[in-house]
Amino acid sequence: MNMKISTIILTTLVVSVFISSCYFDVEQELYPTNKCDVENMSFANDIQPLIKLHCQNCHSSNFASAGVILDTYAGVRSVVDDSSFLNSINHTGDAVPMPLLPNAKAPQCAIDKCEEWVKDGAKDN
Ligand code: HEC
Repeated sequence: MNMKISTIILTTLVVSVFISSCYFDVEQELYPTNKCDVENMSFANDIQPLIKLHCQNCHSSNFASAGVILDTYAGVRSVVDDSSFLNSINHTGDAVPMPLLPNAKAPQCAIDKCEEWVKDGAKDN
C-alpha cells in the first residue's frame, strides 16, 4: 500500500515537471524574449566568440584537429571557402558533423549568425 502511494506521488511529480517544461517551451515559442539578431555580423564581435565557445577546444593553432585551425581569420576563411564550415555546423553535405560530440549541434541562433556572416562575404570585420 505504502509503495503504491509513493509511486503515485513520484509519478505525479515527474509528470508535473514534464508538463511545466512543455509550457515553458510553448511560451518561449509564442513570446520570444530574445530574438536571434543576425544583422550586421562582425567576425570579431559575433563569429569569433561563437567559434571560441563551440569549436576552439579542438581547433586552435596549438591543437588543430584534422588540421582545421579556427582561432585565426585565415583558418576560418579556408573552411568557409571549401564549404566545410557551414556543412559541418549544419550537419549537411559530406562534412563531418560538428561540434564533434554525439548528436551535438551548436544552438540554432549561432548557426544562423554564422550563415549570415558567410552570406555577407565572410568578411574579416
Ligand atoms: C571535441 C572536439 C571537436 C570540437 C568541439 C569541434 N571539432 Fe571539428 N573536428 C574535430 C575532429 C576530430 C575532426 C576530424 C573528424 C574526422 O575527420 O573524422 C574535425 C573536423 C572538422 C572539420 C573538417 C570536416 C570535414 O569533413 O572536412 C571542420 C570544418 C570542423 N571540424 C569544424 C568545426 C567547427 C566549426 C566546430 C564548432 C562548431 C568544431 N569543428 C568543433 C574535433 C572537434
